[in-house]
Amino acid sequence: NTFVIIMAGGVGTRFWPFSRTDFPKQFHDVLGTGKTLLQQTVERFDGVCPPENIYIVSSQEYKNIIKEQIPMLSDDQILLEPHRRNTAPCIAYACYKIASQNPDANIVVAPADHIILKEEIFKDTIKIALGATRNEDILITLGIQPTRPDTGYGYIQYIPDKLTVKKVKSFTEKPHLELAEQFLDSGDFVWNAGIFVWNARAFKRALKTYQPDIAEIFESGETHYYHETEESFISKAYSHCGSISIDNGIMEKADNVHVVLSSFGWSDLGTWKSLYEVSQKDEFQNVTEGTLILHNTTDCIIKTPQEKLVVINGLDGYIVAEYDGVLLICKKDEEQKVKEFVAQAKELH
Ligand code: GDD
Ligand code: MG
Repeated sequence: NTFVIIMAGGVGTRFWPFSRTDFPKQFHDVLGTGKTLLQQTVERFDGVCPPENIYIVSSQEYKNIIKEQIPMLSDDQILLEPHRRNTAPCIAYACYKIASQNPDANIVVAPADHIILKEEIFKDTIKIALGATRNEDILITLGIQPTRPDTGYGYIQYIPDKLTVKKVKSFTEKPHLELAEQFLDSGDFVWNAGIFVWNARAFKRALKTYQPDIAEIFESGETHYYHETEESFISKAYSHCGSISIDNGIMEKADNVHVVLSSFGWSDLGTWKSLYEVSQKDEFQNVTEGTLILHNTTDCIIKTPQEKLVVINGLDGYIVAEYDGVLLICKKDEEQKVKEFVAQAKELH
């Protein structure tokens, strides 16, 4: 009774212009491996649960992309949201649907926009967590050794004992820089990988306690899931439902959060810099894709269409990215501004 829920409804704003609302990053072959991030995510769970127990939650507008990329899924395994309400409602929809037929379901929740280098270690880690949640009503998250005071992640402080499944003291979602620096210095903090493991009971209890309004909405769907009335129920449910992430809505508040420290070579491909970090670099520390002539150019990530010849002279530490009629040139160290550019670009169009 193991199930996997893959969250694939985000728009990946910080990865603009490559990630776009009509075709976000999870549907791209970001690493040039021949497989999209979503396809890699689904394959990663091969052997963790039967294929018919995998659910993808995403926006209605991506239905066809998902069906095309993951043809083995039945329509019933693709849960379509009429509005974006962040990850708490997305997870609630899937968990309540699964629980309506499998009250004892043991569930893994994973984002679709990560890379994981050591798949065997990943599977072992997931199995350890699933082993724990089979018997205990706890909320488990996977923790990653932090390498920089990144403000884009959740920070988990754990009790440093010898147990594999460690009790969490505090969970802080996206702290400001000074706080992130303090966390990093103190040593007993890890990043939240955004991959969660729990049984349906524990999740429902946590949702009822910390997000009672959302719980009430999905609780009332019991008789609609797996029926032709599901779509109209979900349409109504989402129009009432507030928008909040699982991290802010539950993980920061709950007192039964645990963490399994992980070492499977993880990266959230959230931003240009994160792609730069995991990619192969040339002798001048550039990551390049495109038809390029480079002179005196170092420390850059350049991704331009093959059909365009791009000549660059004397550029250091920049992002140069062109996709679908939009060209971005931005200092690598100022990539947090990309979100603002997207907002400005939307006003212009
Ligand atoms: N279906 C659906 N609906 N999916 C969504 C929605 C939504 O409204 N919003 C986001 N997602 C999906 C994204 O596509 C992604 O796969 C996943 O949920 C996580 O959302 P992000 O928006 O990428 O979150 P984040 O990266 O800012 O933060 C989360 O992940 C970090 C690690 O990558 C948090 O869990 C952090 O604590 C964590 O450190
Ligand atoms: Mg992310």
